[in-house]
Amino acid sequence: MIITKVVPGLLIATPDQESFVESAVQRIGKAMRDALMKNDRIAIALSGGETPRPVYRALSSEVLAWSRVDIHIVDERAVPKDDKRSNYGMIREELLEPTKVTSVFPLEAWKPNLEEAAKEAEATIRKKVRTGPGNVPIFDVVVLGIGDDGHTASLFPNEPTVHDEARLVLAVPAKAAREARLSLARTVLENADNIIVLATGAKKQGAIERVWEVTGDLSATPARILRNARGGITWVIDRAAGGLG
Ligand code: 6PG
Repeated sequence: MIITKVVPGLLIATPDQESFVESAVQRIGKAMRDALMKNDRIAIALSGGETPRPVYRALSSEVLAWSRVDIHIVDERAVPKDDKRSNYGMIREELLEPTKVTSVFPLEAWKPNLEEAAKEAEATIRKKVRTGPGNVPIFDVVVLGIGDDGHTASLFPNEPTVHDEARLVLAVPAKAAREARLSLARTVLENADNIIVLATGAKKQGAIERVWEVTGDLSATPARILRNARGGITWVIDRAAGGLG
């Protein structure tokens, strides 16, 4: 069987962790600067997880008009704000405190009613983020990761969330050991002006390849939503994640 792969977007495969962080900061910084030239305020949405931590730390030293940046969170785990698994907590530590950005809109998954919290977050996005055709919000920059099972944001394989095109923010029920979450929905992720995907390590290779394959199953690999992205996509990965040895 012949499998055709096409990388949607620009691929930057870096040789080591240092150049991965440097390239990621460069690309995110450039996308933010370009957006700041066009708009008074910009809206960016940041993922959690471990991969972006050193990137956010380095990004915090970039000379940027941080006072014109609104920061949203791509997804959040239903844990207390100060839990070490909190995405908001990590982003606060690595980026918000050093840059002193205060215009921040967390997904409040620490609240007891996640459906309510999702609706509130949706209303915040409606108020704060500019929209385009179809009244869909347009984030200037979205930073996404990818899980070795093929998830992105908190859109997990074989769960209905990846097919939800009606909502902007979803309550994602807990499953097995995984806690419940809030997540931006595919409609809003796909409509970003710029998506930067960050991934390192050989264990991500299979999932990345499944996104690069021209045909495939969205339910099995929700990160395939990247193939529907309206704007630009840049993959900043290391050679191991790209299967490049
Ligand atoms: C999260 C995320 C998630 C993440 C991937 C990759 O909160 O877990 O936002 O979608 O990007 O799971 O995570 P790592 O960078 O930790 O591998």
